[in-house]
Amino acid sequence: MARSHLMLAVFLYFCLCMLPSLCQNEETQALIEFKKQLTDPFKYLASWKDFESPCQFFGVSCDPKTGMVIGISLDNKSLSGEISPSIGKLKSLTSLVLPSNLLAGSLPSELNNCVNLRVLNVTGNNMNGTLPDLSKLKRLQILDLSINYFSGAFPAWVGNLTSLVSLGLGDNEFDEGGIPQNLGSLRNLTWLYLAGSHLTGEIPESIFEMKALQTLDICRNKISGNLPTSIGKLSNLNKIELFLNNLTGELPVELANLTLLEEFDISSNQISGTLPPEIGNLKSLKIFHVYKNNFSGKIPSGFGDMHHLIAFSVYKNNFSGEIPENLGRFSPMNSIDMSENKFTGRFPKYLCRRKSLQFFLAVENNFSGELPDSYGSCESLVRFRVCQNNLSGKIPDGFWSLPNVKMIDLSNNHFSGGISTIIRSAASLSQLILSNNRFSGEIPNELGQVSGLEKLYLDKNEFSGRIPAELGDLKQISSLHMEDNSFSGPIPSELARCSRLVELDLASNSLSGSIPSSFSMFLSLNSLNLSGNKLTGSVPTSLEKLKLSSIDMSNNQLSGIIPSDLWTMGGDKAFIGNNRLCIDESTRSIMKSDLSVCYQKTGDKSNFMKRRIVLFYLIVFGLIVVIGGLMLVSYANFRHCEPSLGKKDEKGKGDDSKFRLESFHLMEFDVDEICSLDEDNLIGTGSTGKVYRLDLKKGSGSVAVKKIWKKDAVKVLTAEMEILGMIRHRNILKLYACLINEGSNFLVLEYMANGNLFQALHRQIKGGKPELDWHQRYKIAVGAAKGISYLHHDVSPAVIHRDIKSTNILLDEDYEAKIADFGVARLAEDSNIGSGFSSLTGTHGYIAPEMAYTLKITDKCDVYSFGVVLLELVTGRKPVEDDYGEGKDIVYWVTTHLNNKEETFKVLDRKVVSEDIQEDMIKVLKVATVCTSKLPNLRPSMKEVVKMLIDAQPHKSSVHTGKNEKVDMYT
Ligand SMILES: *[C@@H]1O[C@H](CO)[C@@H](O)[C@H](O)[C@H]1NC(C)=O
Ligand SMILES: *[C@@H]1O[C@H](CO)[C@@H](O)[C@H](O)[C@H]1NC(C)=O
Ligand SMILES: *[C@@H]1O[C@H](CO)[C@@H](O)[C@H](O)[C@H]1NC(C)=O
Repeated sequence: MARSHLMLAVFLYFCLCMLPSLCQNEETQALIEFKKQLTDPFKYLASWKDFESPCQFFGVSCDPKTGMVIGISLDNKSLSGEISPSIGKLKSLTSLVLPSNLLAGSLPSELNNCVNLRVLNVTGNNMNGTLPDLSKLKRLQILDLSINYFSGAFPAWVGNLTSLVSLGLGDNEFDEGGIPQNLGSLRNLTWLYLAGSHLTGEIPESIFEMKALQTLDICRNKISGNLPTSIGKLSNLNKIELFLNNLTGELPVELANLTLLEEFDISSNQISGTLPPEIGNLKSLKIFHVYKNNFSGKIPSGFGDMHHLIAFSVYKNNFSGEIPENLGRFSPMNSIDMSENKFTGRFPKYLCRRKSLQFFLAVENNFSGELPDSYGSCESLVRFRVCQNNLSGKIPDGFWSLPNVKMIDLSNNHFSGGISTIIRSAASLSQLILSNNRFSGEIPNELGQVSGLEKLYLDKNEFSGRIPAELGDLKQISSLHMEDNSFSGPIPSELARCSRLVELDLASNSLSGSIPSSFSMFLSLNSLNLSGNKLTGSVPTSLEKLKLSSIDMSNNQLSGIIPSDLWTMGGDKAFIGNNRLCIDESTRSIMKSDLSVCYQKTGDKSNFMKRRIVLFYLIVFGLIVVIGGLMLVSYANFRHCEPSLGKKDEKGKGDDSKFRLESFHLMEFDVDEICSLDEDNLIGTGSTGKVYRLDLKKGSGSVAVKKIWKKDAVKVLTAEMEILGMIRHRNILKLYACLINEGSNFLVLEYMANGNLFQALHRQIKGGKPELDWHQRYKIAVGAAKGISYLHHDVSPAVIHRDIKSTNILLDEDYEAKIADFGVARLAEDSNIGSGFSSLTGTHGYIAPEMAYTLKITDKCDVYSFGVVLLELVTGRKPVEDDYGEGKDIVYWVTTHLNNKEETFKVLDRKVVSEDIQEDMIKVLKVATVCTSKLPNLRPSMKEVVKMLIDAQPHKSSVHTGKNEKVDMYT
């Protein structure tokens, strides 16, 4: 009975389904199911309703004859969620286009049922998992799966999709491996995008059989071998992108057969040899990038009569000879970079003929002669850097007033002549670098009208005359270098109006008169050099107000008493060579000095200094008492490591089995356990010792045991015990106990299940997702900030950690951050006293810039280092990476990306950013940039940092509120 009902139902279903209009019901259901799996914040899918014809649905198209769904197109609609397998029910589907959304999850294998599919485009989503074999979809013409997180083996089955015209698989997380040989069967392919997908090995020969190919993009992989001659067979190519690979060998002449080639980028490989002269016949070329290779020889003269060339970059090679004279004569050249080669001869004079040149870089070559006159009318120029060449002669007049130029760097050449008064019209100029040339004459007053000027380097030239008072109008200037010239006359007191000045160097001139007392208004000044002049009068006491970290007034004719704070900062060497300067007797008792002593009544000042000294001794005395006391206490508690401890004896750690145990927290464990550490449980090696995990016998969980290197033991133990022993804070690692004997020293610490922040940031969970999403990172940032803020502001005396970095921030099982490793920490009070007390510590990439010229440790050093940690959280990058450039770090790298919104978004960690949190990440990026201000006094205190971070809390509900908010990094 029931069975016959069922049969009837099945029969009816089949009958009815012969009529397309009823079948639509099934398609509607499939689409409703598809919608259910998605989050659609902007309600694009509002029209997708039950009992409606799917042909009315937004983004859905139907076959006009059959009424069946043939296309779904939802491009850039902020959709998240996953693609439902119900998609497989749309039997007539020919096109599924869902690019630039936030789709996650894997690609459903049910797509194989859509046998009519011609276009599948899901580029730019967050999809992951391994790809299903889609080789049954024989009609596919466009397959774009690029820019996702797909993993597993590189899909070799695509070689069977012989109808393909466009194939994008790049920027995924495929396993490392070669390009499949069978890709060459795709004879209709015009577009191949395999960038950034962990490809290794050589380009298979079969690739060069894809005669229709127009775009070959395999950049950012590990492709090796050379570019074979068969590249010449791909005569339809207009774009070759092979930059950032390991290509070697020489370029084949056959490249010249590619007469349609418009873009050629093989930069950042190890290709050598010369450029075949025939390349000069590639008359369609627009972009030619071969920088960072080992090329030598000349640039083919054919580059001089290209009509479309707009970008030419050959920096960091060994090219030599002259640049083709006609380069840029017939094309709208926009940017040229010839830096770091051995080019000789003159600059090409027609380069700016079409008035489109914006970027001209020719740093570090052997170019000679004058700048061509025509450059003086190159109004499009934005950046002009030709430092370190043999250039000479005068600068063409108009050059000084180019309206768009932001940076002019002519340093380290032999240029002569003066600066023209028309410089007042250089409306965009922010950096003028003329150092080390033969420029002469007076500085025009009009230079003071270049209101955007930030850096002015006139040093090591033959300038003379007075320093114009008008320079005081440069409100934006931060670096003013005028040293090693022949300036004379007084230092204008108006200079003090440059309120953003950070560096002022007027050394080695013939300046006379006194030091303006107005200089005490320089609130941002960091270093001041007035040495080697003819300055007279006294050193203004008001300068003590400045927060300088470098000062030099040596070799002048100054007289009178040196303000003691200036002397303690600069030392003798900042004042020697001034016969009539002297130093207060009581000041001198702090540090040895060769300066003469002033015989006069000591005033309030010296009393203040005396108080400081007394304080110093008090602190030292206090420390001795504390440490002594601790040792006494611990001696009273001493216990024996039982002789029966086999392991310890085996390792021959000596006979001295007496351990002193100092407990700081209530914690039950046996000394024996600590003594028998197992190398298998090593969890880390820090700067001061090895750390082991120890699972306690009494079932009270695990602890971490740090075995301190012998040589550092006393210093480290003192620091760690003293600081950690007195601190209780949820964001600071707990010290449970301390064991001391002659041979080994152990600290027993809280065990952190998730290791350190650095590891966690670079760990991935399955599918290539990072372990820490933005919410977790944010929580860690706040926790760590609270911990450091507590050290700086809530314990007394305050503690400066001195080695804040992501490896010293540990994470417990709930990812709560705990500050660890106090091995080099200092109590704030001892940090000012003499340089002998503090050695340079910290970790490369985290050290505040002022540490290069001062050993004065302030809490602002920790703020800087914490700023670096914030940058790690926001960018997912390491503090030091090769691609920041030599000697550059993450702080530098980030600041080069803050010019506009577009660029700024690029620094955000691509693995965690999404549209709804990017504004939140930008807020934390802003905090990071103020923390890493070059000037210590522009950095906020940790208390302020905590407050700013709390204001930057991610709002889960603010999915689209932030959309139109402007990112103004520089206001
Ligand atoms: C591709 O097609 C060939 C023959 O047509 C077949 O032998 C092979 O298994 C297919 N490869 C894949 C990965 O489907
Ligand atoms: C996929 O869609 C994106 C966004 O519309 C587009 O830029 C890209 O060219 C498409 N891919 C192919 C291969 O057509
Ligand atoms: C894909 O990502 C989701 C969510 O981001 C995650 O839960 C899942 O485990 C990942 N799948 C794979 C196979 O990596």
